[in-house]
Amino acid sequence: MPKHDNSAAREAVLRYHRLSKHGLHAYAPGPGHLDWAAQPDPFRRYHGAEYLALPLLAGALLTPWADLKAAEAVASRPVDGNGIASLLEMSLGLSAWKEYGGTRWALRCNPSSGNLHPTEAYVICPRMPGLARGVYHYLSAGHALERRASPAADGGWDACFTGGLLIALSSVHWREAWKYGARAYRYCQHDVGHAITALRYAAAALGWHMHLLNEWGDAEIASVCGLDRDADFPSAEEREHPDCILWLGPRAAAPTAASLLSLLGAAQWQGRANVLSQAHRDWPEIDEVARAAAKPRTEIEAVPAWMAAALPALSAPANAIRAAELFRQRRSAVAFDGKSGMSRTAFFAMLDALLPRAGVAPWDTLPWRPRLHPVFFVHRVEGLASGIYALPRHAAAEKALRAALDDTWHWSTISGCPSHLPLRLLAEADAREAARLISCHQAIAADSAFALGMLAEYRDGLAQAPWHYRSLFWEAGMLGQALYLEAEAAGLRATGIGCFFDDEMHRLLGLRDEQFQSLYHFTVGAAVDDSRLRTLAPYAHLTPRAM
Ligand SMILES: Cc1cc2nc3c(=O)[nH]c(=O)nc-3n(C[C@H](O)[C@H](O)[C@H](O)COP(=O)(O)O)c2cc1C
Repeated sequence: MPKHDNSAAREAVLRYHRLSKHGLHAYAPGPGHLDWAAQPDPFRRYHGAEYLALPLLAGALLTPWADLKAAEAVASRPVDGNGIASLLEMSLGLSAWKEYGGTRWALRCNPSSGNLHPTEAYVICPRMPGLARGVYHYLSAGHALERRASPAADGGWDACFTGGLLIALSSVHWREAWKYGARAYRYCQHDVGHAITALRYAAAALGWHMHLLNEWGDAEIASVCGLDRDADFPSAEEREHPDCILWLGPRAAAPTAASLLSLLGAAQWQGRANVLSQAHRDWPEIDEVARAAAKPRTEIEAVPAWMAAALPALSAPANAIRAAELFRQRRSAVAFDGKSGMSRTAFFAMLDALLPRAGVAPWDTLPWRPRLHPVFFVHRVEGLASGIYALPRHAAAEKALRAALDDTWHWSTISGCPSHLPLRLLAEADAREAARLISCHQAIAADSAFALGMLAEYRDGLAQAPWHYRSLFWEAGMLGQALYLEAEAAGLRATGIGCFFDDEMHRLLGLRDEQFQSLYHFTVGAAVDDSRLRTLAPYAHLTPRAM
């Protein structure tokens, strides 16, 4: 494939990243005040599309969370309508309703910055027991599929799917920009990473394989999902931007974009997107970066060499919790107690789950070597000195990080740390105030057991292609989702931190240039619940259906 000159697009991405940084003295451009009258509807609906209520089945799925820690440990469930219903319920479905002062809002298994949920999901599948062939939009509010396209029965559609299905994700940038302005594009990408990971873990609980089809171009994803059908979207500001497409089911060849697009040429499309907001404000910075980071079709990437690297098996968690239960109980902590910590065995086990292992969720989803490396602010881990630590997630990263960061850091190994876990102590310190300050003064970064920032191989990533900007954020969201679930399994709780002062983090670490950039922060500890909130069951608002 001919190489394009991407330098102008890369410059546009670099510009966006700089302008969307929060600083101690100036936040990234935002709306200033919230226009509540324009608050976007968190649920996309396609009026006029055939509506298919899915059964609620996840409660009956017994797969233990511990079984997701090893490759091939879960027997494969049938890839059928019930399987897809369980998958969606456990990954993108509602997890609860919260109520306070006469207001109610839904939470989902996948988290989202500001609970705004810009991510939409599309299922593309053959005819299977319990589900007709088609392109469907998932509506989490009703745990339902809306059938957007009905491909012809005789064209060969079903034969393209060798026993599996595709799920595509897209983002409504406006939903996030309404509240967060220019920085919202970053949060949309984080949310995609969380959603990919939620899907991967749910697929693993069903014994299904899943991987990202990174060769697809954005335009192909848009066409297969019907996102490019202008007449179906009443508002230009609320258009969905294609993000990625995933293959789920058996380890088999996925259908190609070309074959699906040619078969969809004769398909019937149904439904018109709802209007999400009565008024909009333009964020040209977001339009510009979205254009610059758009992905064309690329070549299929070879199975990465890192997949072959053998690490010892993950230790089995002591917790006997079922995976489906864990996915649905995941919540963000709004406060931590500032006292309780965690054992260092639990800490090491949590970090081990961030290292890629062949065939183990969620890191087997990605066709690239890890490009994000956590730097921890350890506050309360028993048997571990408080301080700043780094976890380079592949062998070459430690060398690059050592060269890029302040040369006074120690980089010492930690006695008692498993030898395959490359955790390094940079310096002993009480890092609570630094963590709080860097996290836009949020107490959750100081009152937890530990907080972290995620350093991305930023300059090299963008040098390869401007659209890598998005996938770096996806990987950050993936690390976040893994930590959310690991924290729950350890009896703790986590929270994503999208609001942080980028360059304060870089200054603390002594980063001299843009080789690495911190793209996402996180915190894990003993949560304090807000007792004023009432919690209601996720689908109590629906008429009873199969459970
Ligand atoms: C990308 C991202 C950034 C977030 N940033 C913050 C943050 O800076 N501060 C905070 O208190 N919560 C933050 N959160 C947590 C969200 O507010 C939370 O996910 C959302 O309210 C939904 O609640 P739930 O996670 O309990 O389902 C973030 C979550 C995500 C996914």
